[in-house]
Amino acid sequence: MAAVLTLTVLLCLFGLGKGIDVQRLNLEQVLILSRHNVRTPLTGELEMYASKPWPKWNVSSGLLTRKGYQLEGYMGEYIADWFATENFFNGCPKEDEIIVYSNTKPRTIASAKAFAESAFKNCNITVKHHENLAAMDPMFLPIFHNKTAAFKQQAREEMTRKLNEVDLTEAYREMTRILNMQSSDVCKKLAICDLVALKSDIVTEDGEEPNVNGPLFIANAIVDSFIMSYYEGMPLSDVAWGEIQDNATKWELLTSIARENQNVRFNLTSASKDVAGPLLKYMYNIFKSGTPKFTLLVGHDSNLNGVINAFDFQPFVLPGQFEPFPIGGKVIFQKWSDANEKYLKIEYVYPTVKQLRNGEKLSRLDPPQRVLLIPKGCKMSPVGFCPWSEFLKLNTFS
Ligand SMILES: *[C@@H]1O[C@H](CO)[C@@H](O)[C@H](O)[C@H]1NC(C)=O
Ligand SMILES: *[C@@H]1O[C@H](CO)[C@@H](O)[C@H](O)[C@H]1NC(C)=O
Ligand SMILES: *[C@@H]1O[C@H](CO)[C@@H](O)[C@H](O)[C@H]1NC(C)=O
Ligand SMILES: *[C@@H]1O[C@H](CO)[C@@H](O)[C@H](O)[C@H]1NC(C)=O
Ligand SMILES: *[C@@H]1O[C@H](CO)[C@@H](O)[C@H](O)[C@H]1NC(C)=O
Repeated sequence: MAAVLTLTVLLCLFGLGKGIDVQRLNLEQVLILSRHNVRTPLTGELEMYASKPWPKWNVSSGLLTRKGYQLEGYMGEYIADWFATENFFNGCPKEDEIIVYSNTKPRTIASAKAFAESAFKNCNITVKHHENLAAMDPMFLPIFHNKTAAFKQQAREEMTRKLNEVDLTEAYREMTRILNMQSSDVCKKLAICDLVALKSDIVTEDGEEPNVNGPLFIANAIVDSFIMSYYEGMPLSDVAWGEIQDNATKWELLTSIARENQNVRFNLTSASKDVAGPLLKYMYNIFKSGTPKFTLLVGHDSNLNGVINAFDFQPFVLPGQFEPFPIGGKVIFQKWSDANEKYLKIEYVYPTVKQLRNGEKLSRLDPPQRVLLIPKGCKMSPVGFCPWSEFLKLNTFS
């Protein structure tokens, strides 16, 4: 009791002037920016990098797996349970209270369906997406929009600087060893035998995602396939031919390739706001208008990377994960209110590697991680809320 009183007093003392009583806050609006769940590797062309047999995936490349569908359903159920606790919806959302909007990729559409079916059972929620599935929805397409030479030069310089700062020698050496590249087709036919000996370069083509080539590109595709087969629950002997097992240090080392790939391509002070521009604009309109009550946007790691950088959050870590933007992970923007004020809270909610691999059903007893994200431009209360009016004024949106 004394502890509770002390906490309340502290909250009032250090709160936002009037003080926030977290017990009396009402959840008013939620926008979730989500990455799709577990998918098959993006490319079916990994065979040439190792002469050993690659694990068989029963579906073609880049699609949500059956397990990915189930895991996304678990996220949906967990969020629905949280909504129920907060009395956020009373039965099914009304049509004007919800938007579920996915990129055109089958894996994002399927993830959105999995989430919506589980979160809003028997509510017949429609997943909105562009009709032409052959093209990325421009809102989810992470490209440079600013066509000036000056912008492109700035962005290229930053990418180049980041690429030069990256030292992946150890990771490349380990990857070359795991693949036994010396005996691969890519060595015999193209003389690509050692990732350490090769140099990566940045690639920026108009209308295309900023990218890299060379070892950072190759090793990223391969480590991605290891990560997905681990999440999928394949026997450890089928994940990187048993070379990683559950060695956390080794996973850290190899997945640094995926982290740096994202870092070089999308973690750009000079370009994040531009790359995520259409998405940020869409989000801003929802925050500004206050409708709909609930929005789920389903895209890719690059989308989360761009938006997260555009908000310039204080540094944060994601316990229990080795991906920089975990599969099925969600940045959840929440508008809360009391009698006087409206507040913002942002959390990164994501399943851990262990929860994914074990296919754990999420619940209050086995929750996903919830990491508070703090925009540098917002005056935060000790419990992680910032005034909504300050949030809307962040230069992220200007
Ligand atoms: C592929 O299908 C086989 C046979 O149905 C099954 O044993 C195996 O687990 C499946 N693999 C994956 C990755 O789904
Ligand atoms: C579900 O929603 C769609 C689109 O809004 C509508 O066409 C369809 O009739 C609905 N189905 C049921 C069973 O309510
Ligand atoms: C495009 O980038 C240039 C160089 O950074 C900048 O001066 C200009 O304002 C940008 N244009 C738009 C429309 O953002
Ligand atoms: C785990 O991986 C690291 C990095 O590759 C390696 O140095 C270490 O020996 C491994 N540990 C075990 C127990 O295999
Ligand atoms: C993004 O870039 C900043 C500045 O270079 C760096 O401190 C940060 O660790 C990077 N974030 C990620 C996720 O790589």
